Amino acid sequence: MTSTTQLQGSVAIITGGSRGLGRYCAEQLASQGCKVVMVGINPQSVADAQLQLQSKNLDVIGKVADVADPVAMDRLVVELGELANPQILINSAGVMSAKMTKTLRTSNDEWHRVLGINLDGVFNSVSRFAPSMVEQRYGRIINLSACLGRFTGPGLLGGLAPYRISKTGVNALTKNLAAELQFGARNVLVDAVCPGHIQTDMGGETAPRTVAQGADTVLWLATRAQTDQTGLLWEDREVVPY
Ligand SMILES: NC(=O)c1ccc[n+]([C@@H]2O[C@H](COP(=O)([O-])OP(=O)(O)OC[C@H]3O[C@@H](n4cnc5c(N)ncnc54)[C@H](OP(=O)(O)O)[C@@H]3O)[C@@H](O)[C@H]2O)c1
Repeated sequence: MTSTTQLQGSVAIITGGSRGLGRYCAEQLASQGCKVVMVGINPQSVADAQLQLQSKNLDVIGKVADVADPVAMDRLVVELGELANPQILINSAGVMSAKMTKTLRTSNDEWHRVLGINLDGVFNSVSRFAPSMVEQRYGRIINLSACLGRFTGPGLLGGLAPYRISKTGVNALTKNLAAELQFGARNVLVDAVCPGHIQTDMGGETAPRTVAQGADTVLWLATRAQTDQTGLLWEDREVVPY
């Protein structure tokens, strides 16, 4: 699968597919012929996204599952049946940590809430959906990271500890998994993306960048040909240092 015409008939699973960047990716991939599974946590949000995209005749289904909950993710796999063997997996589900969450001001509950969704959630997703990619020798996995999780640049400023550290963890998971998959040798590519500050519920309406701008690199990575340029952190289709 090297071009968008070949997306026809492939399956994409998008966690956080009910809103924001994930929902935009769902619409774009479905418009190009993918069958898309949109996973969210809020039943109303998932139902709304499904209704909106199905009313445009797009081949999407919405599923409710908490990515932080391994039992719920196991249940999702069973419910999806054959669809649990995707060609594309976009891990976009995420939450921002509460205000004033410097490390020493973060409660246990807040730490575990954010790490559970943002980092455990990516592990719970790849551990369930990537093995079939390895078996079929094709897969594109894109993890939504954030500039705030980088060891270079804004990641050094402190504050928002659970969020920043969860995304640093996502970066590490991405690189580690790509290495385990021999950096594309099996045609399973695993990459992380910094979308920038985007106009979504999380980013706020005054954010400088549109959802389309934030999703561009994600969609580009989702349709790349086989390469050994993987296990990397990308921003606007360029590699940026972790
Ligand atoms: N927006 C930005 O400026 C920005 C910047 C850097 C990185 N990012 C990253 O990009 C990703 C997408 O952000 P966004 O701005 O699109 O966020 P968003 O608009 O707030 O949407 C968040 C999505 O995650 C889902 N979600 C939250 N908790 C979940 C859980 N426990 N289980 C399953 N799904 C869950 C939500 O589902 P419901 O609809 O059901 O609630 C929703 O679909 C996130 O990982 C975020 O950290 C965003």
